[in-house]
Amino acid sequence: MNEFTFYNPVRLHFGKGQITQLEKELPKYGDKILVVYGGGSIKRNDLYNEVMTILENLKMKVFELSGVEPNPRVSTARKGIEICKKEEIDIVLAVGGGSVIDCSKLIVAGAMIDEDPWNIVIKKAEVKDALPLGTILTIAATGSEMNAGSVITNEETLEKFGWGSPFVFPKFSILDPTYTFTLPRNQTVYGIVDMMAHVFEQYFHNATNTPVTDEMCEGVLRTVIATGPKLVNDLENYELRETILLSGTIALNTFLSMGSTGDWATHDIEHAVSAVYDIPHGGGLAILFPNWMRHNVHVNPDRFAQLATRVFGVNPEGKSAEEIAYEGINRLSEFWISIGAPSRLADYEIDDSKLDILVEKAMARPLGVFKKLQAEDVRKILEMSL
Ligand code: NZQ
Ligand code: ZN
Repeated sequence: MNEFTFYNPVRLHFGKGQITQLEKELPKYGDKILVVYGGGSIKRNDLYNEVMTILENLKMKVFELSGVEPNPRVSTARKGIEICKKEEIDIVLAVGGGSVIDCSKLIVAGAMIDEDPWNIVIKKAEVKDALPLGTILTIAATGSEMNAGSVITNEETLEKFGWGSPFVFPKFSILDPTYTFTLPRNQTVYGIVDMMAHVFEQYFHNATNTPVTDEMCEGVLRTVIATGPKLVNDLENYELRETILLSGTIALNTFLSMGSTGDWATHDIEHAVSAVYDIPHGGGLAILFPNWMRHNVHVNPDRFAQLATRVFGVNPEGKSAEEIAYEGINRLSEFWISIGAPSRLADYEIDDSKLDILVEKAMARPLGVFKKLQAEDVRKILEMSL
């Protein structure tokens, strides 16, 4: 393992009815609250009313920012920052998915500086403080509810980048599986793909002697693979939703990265594709990840073979590590297709016409740790994905 320091201060309230924890959490921070949410799913499933009733009972002064987009935009964060500054907001409450939470992270950090928030995303402005942030999660996917990362799109420059700061860890996150019941099948699938991709990103590293985190990664993957197909056919099953919800959090609350540095190139390539074509993050990952794997088997065939045998049940007898690896990758592809994930960029009507732009955008930052990628690698992976 590599030397490491671990820090994660998020208080997680998990389970049915845990929304009542708002009554204990919110008064710690003051009485002016900005509630941030997306395009209306929380109004359709009544979570909005539930939250507002609690805030009314607490006699809080409530401000709202609605309409946060999937692939949240810096322009929306700017609106939230303006409200925070003008109204001297005490706490921001994000109610929604990863996009709402990520946008809120930029709001709480941007509210404390005088510069444009895009400067935070591109690391020109340093985050030295942030308003307190609480979250109520409605989709199992990103892990944003228990990490310090955020991914933001600049719709003018067609750029999408991740950034992070320990100051934007949520103070608390409320995860009630019943709030994910209304999530449609396609979004449920994207979430499943995303959390599995997070485990893969962390599994492919160059550290040695990592049996604890290896087993943790493999355990999360096996659990998601056993649960996902049942869930996509039984969307309101509490136990299945519960299992997937916790899996999503564990997949990216950085516990799985203790002692190692993950790769993350596939995420960066997907962010470039999403920046240009505005496709769902999980959909993009389902297309790209198997091809990133095929392109990189040679880097460490034994690592891929370990994944194939322990997670995808590949029988290793009489086969080389590379053969086992490829069989595992094919099983991953088949699994994602079986639950309804896309497998080709063509599924989003993306052809090779903007390949140069995608490569250039993906190369904006250094790519990969397990394997550092050059422009020709990115092009190859995209071509394999067309
Ligand atoms: O906007 P509303 O109306 O709420 O609808 C959303 C949205 O259309 C809907 N939805 C969410 N909960 C629902 C629901 N619909 C019905 N019932 C519910 N309970 O689902 C759609 C997608 O929501 P979104 O928040 O965009 O999904 P997700 O959580 O997958 O977030 C994706 C974003 O997170 C970034 C991605 O790049 C993307 O921008 N990521 C953030 C990470 C992080 N902060 O750690 C890491 C990830 O790798 C990822 O890059
Ligand atoms: Zn992701």
